[in-house]
Amino acid sequence: MKRAFLLLFLSLLMGSFVIIKITTLQAETTPSQESTQENIKSPFAEGCNKCHGDEAAYKEWTQAGHSHALVNLIEGPYEVKTSCLSCHSSGYTMFAEGAIQGHPYSEKTAVNAVACSSCHSHASKEESLLIIPAKKLCVNCHKMDCGCAGAGIVHQSQSEMFLGREGAGVKRMPSPHVRAMKKRCVHCHMAKDDPESVAKHGGHTFKAEFNICSSSGCHDSADNDMAKRLPNYKAEIETKMKEVKAILDSATDKTSQAYIDAKLNYDMVKGDSGYGLHNIPYARALLEHSLSLKSEIK
Ligand code: HEC
Ligand code: HEC
Ligand code: HEC
Ligand code: HEC
Ligand code: HEC
Repeated sequence: MKRAFLLLFLSLLMGSFVIIKITTLQAETTPSQESTQENIKSPFAEGCNKCHGDEAAYKEWTQAGHSHALVNLIEGPYEVKTSCLSCHSSGYTMFAEGAIQGHPYSEKTAVNAVACSSCHSHASKEESLLIIPAKKLCVNCHKMDCGCAGAGIVHQSQSEMFLGREGAGVKRMPSPHVRAMKKRCVHCHMAKDDPESVAKHGGHTFKAEFNICSSSGCHDSADNDMAKRLPNYKAEIETKMKEVKAILDSATDKTSQAYIDAKLNYDMVKGDSGYGLHNIPYARALLEHSLSLKSEIK
């Protein structure tokens, strides 16, 4: 009997959820989404804010990069294709899943940034209703090769650096953090003390803070103090980068394999916060390989 009631309750909940999903015509929009056209009447608008708008997660999200992803894409200097939306707008997922039929979907009709349903679905069975487990979530979008060949855009290399792969001439070398951190990127980028409060870092701002190195109890001893070690790493990597750059700049043949490999490694390190922060040993190995190619670069 209890079970029947539970089922009835659940199906009512699901039912109203579907209705809400379809009738989000009046959904409120956040300032960050307002600058795109036609959002209010769009069936693609998510409407999660109807119920979650007062929560810390929502408020944090409006403060940071993900909520501007669509505007930045459309107003950016590159030619925009519908496929760009697979990472720059959550509407693409809804469209691809066939949740909304009979409406054309493109950069002209898209209204959502990287928003709640880019990562969550009430239909999911994962922890926190994530559409894929946390450890795989971020690398899905945060990758160098966006699959948008020909668009002339190089995306940042944090995922490749963290996982220690895709560089030239260097074996796979995952960051030690890959083993230590089950939730990977989420561990540092969403860390926050109080889940209820609206934070400026961590949580749904997805902004990592350097404090995380010591506050998590990992690097708090004197000989393991990251606040002291990081500047040294940074200086070391930046010196090596200058050496590689000098070789690249003086090259006349920019088509040789040696040049291409040396440049790829350089770009990977530079594309990761400027000095390969997410995996210093790998950054060092990449640059050393580039330096070893010096005599082959003409
Ligand atoms: C009709 C109101 C309603 C709407 C609309 C709604 N949700 Fe929810 N959501 C809930 C309720 C109720 C819960 C359970 C609350 C709880 O356990 O704290 C929940 C739980 C969640 C959770 C899990 C929170 C946790 O602590 O694990 C996530 C994530 C979530 N919703 C995301 C979304 C997303 C994404 C959307 C839009 C696509 C959405 N919700 C739309 C009512 C709603
Ligand atoms: C659906 C694709 C997608 C997923 C999934 C995703 N991101 Fe992003 N992320 C983006 C895009 C696109 C941007 C660029 C936004 C912009 O225009 O500035 C971005 C920007 C960022 C930024 C820069 C934020 C800022 O305020 O400038 C950080 C940090 C970040 N993401 C971390 C993460 C982490 C951590 C995860 C996993 C929990 C994640 N992202 C998952 C697409 C995604
Ligand atoms: C595989 C996922 C993915 C695809 C596909 C993708 N992007 Fe991105 N894009 C990202 C992520 C993640 C970021 C944020 C960090 C970075 O630069 O890598 C981003 C950042 C950007 C930025 C910089 C935003 C800023 O902060 O100003 C621009 C511009 C951009 N993308 C344009 C494009 C264009 C144009 C396309 C299609 C031709 C495209 N992207 C396709 C994932 C993707
Ligand atoms: C880029 C991916 C991403 C986006 C976008 C995103 N979330 Fe989350 N969310 C996560 C991850 C990952 C967790 C789990 C964090 C953890 O395990 O520590 C989470 C956890 C949550 C939780 C559980 C409690 C908490 O605050 O940690 C709620 C509620 C939630 N999200 C709501 C939302 C809402 C509402 C939106 C839209 C404003 C949203 N999320 C957008 C990735 C995302
Ligand atoms: C060990 C902790 C840690 C892990 C794990 C981690 N990051 Fe970071 N990340 C940082 C720190 C610290 C910064 C620098 C923040 C700053 O400059 O203020 C950063 C910077 C970034 C930035 C640039 C942010 C900006 O505002 O431009 C992006 C994007 C990013 N990380 C994505 C990722 C992704 C994707 C993963 C998983 C593959 C990941 N990070 C894993 C600590 C981490």
